[in-house]
Amino acid sequence: MAGIQIIGTGSAVPEKILSNDDMSTWLDTSDEWIYKRTGIKRRHIAAEGEGAHDLAIRAARQALERAKEADSGFSEEKLIAVITASMSSDYICPTVSCIIQEELSLPEDITAYDINAACTGFVYALQNAFRMLKEDKDGYVLIVGSECMSRLVDYNDRSVCVLFGDGAGAAVLRFDPSDESMFLPIAGTKGSRKILYCRKPPVSDGFLHMNGQEVYRFASNSLRTAIERLLERSGLSIEDIDQVVCHQANARIIDSVRRRFPGAEDKFYQHMEEYANTSGASVALVMNEMFQKGILHENMTIICAAFGAGLSWNAVLMTI
Ligand code: UT7
Repeated sequence: MAGIQIIGTGSAVPEKILSNDDMSTWLDTSDEWIYKRTGIKRRHIAAEGEGAHDLAIRAARQALERAKEADSGFSEEKLIAVITASMSSDYICPTVSCIIQEELSLPEDITAYDINAACTGFVYALQNAFRMLKEDKDGYVLIVGSECMSRLVDYNDRSVCVLFGDGAGAAVLRFDPSDESMFLPIAGTKGSRKILYCRKPPVSDGFLHMNGQEVYRFASNSLRTAIERLLERSGLSIEDIDQVVCHQANARIIDSVRRRFPGAEDKFYQHMEEYANTSGASVALVMNEMFQKGILHENMTIICAAFGAGLSWNAVLMTI
């Protein structure tokens, strides 16, 4: 088969931290309620004037620097595309990817677009990048996930605002032609405008609305289904998978799924305690942390999986 290699990752989060206790000063909520139901303790919140594009630029710059250190053959001139997952940019246009191209002086003969797919955006970016790299095997692709979810939540709606945070992650990818490498994508959709949606003013309030229990059910089922189907298609078992990199929405969702894979419970890393749900940035942000901590490294076989608004879900089984 063939696959991709991740040669550099980066991340950026705003300085300001909002804890559960901070939120309970104006909301009828508590650290105990939030932590027990979600695994979230705190989240980073963008400063006034700090947008998803700012976080994306910082994360992308770090990923590009690390990619240059790791691969002497890489330079920005070799990039063929920038793809950013974001639904919360201050700019309707230009895209965050175009702003990254401008700010980091990336080549002009480059494809640059955003994916507006909420929490599944970064895994779609990964899937699209693989297709591009199969066509242009000497190229490199920069993928980014960046969100300022604080722009989309109503801080008086306790059922939604406690769940989300701001942040960005990025990765530089290259093609891996070796027979042993693998890249299996999968995705699914269950369209609904009622379960999880955000509608622009003036037709609506511009805030995110959610039926939490419906999303919970969808998320647990789709995450488990994604992993099971990828294992079936690849002929691998969960023992062959080194790590499952999950969208960091809720610890209970991940815990309910990992219990379905006995013996592999320690392969489901979580960090929503610190960052909460950063939507399209979530998989990118956790992936970077896992690389920095040495939990992810070369020659591993991993699954990346996400679920969210749409409703949609997607995943990739890949060697890295
Ligand atoms: O990327 C995907 C993003 N979304 C998700 O991952 C969300 C998935 N869903 C969930 O994780 C859970 O459904 C929640 C954590 C959102 C909610 O937990 P729940 O156990 O499903 O609570 P619930 O919606 O059934 O609400 C139970 C009670 C309600 O009060 P009443 O009607 O029983 O008096 C809510 O008003 O909890 C109340 N409640 C809260 N109480 C304190 C809702 N939010 C809060 C809060 N603090 N922040």
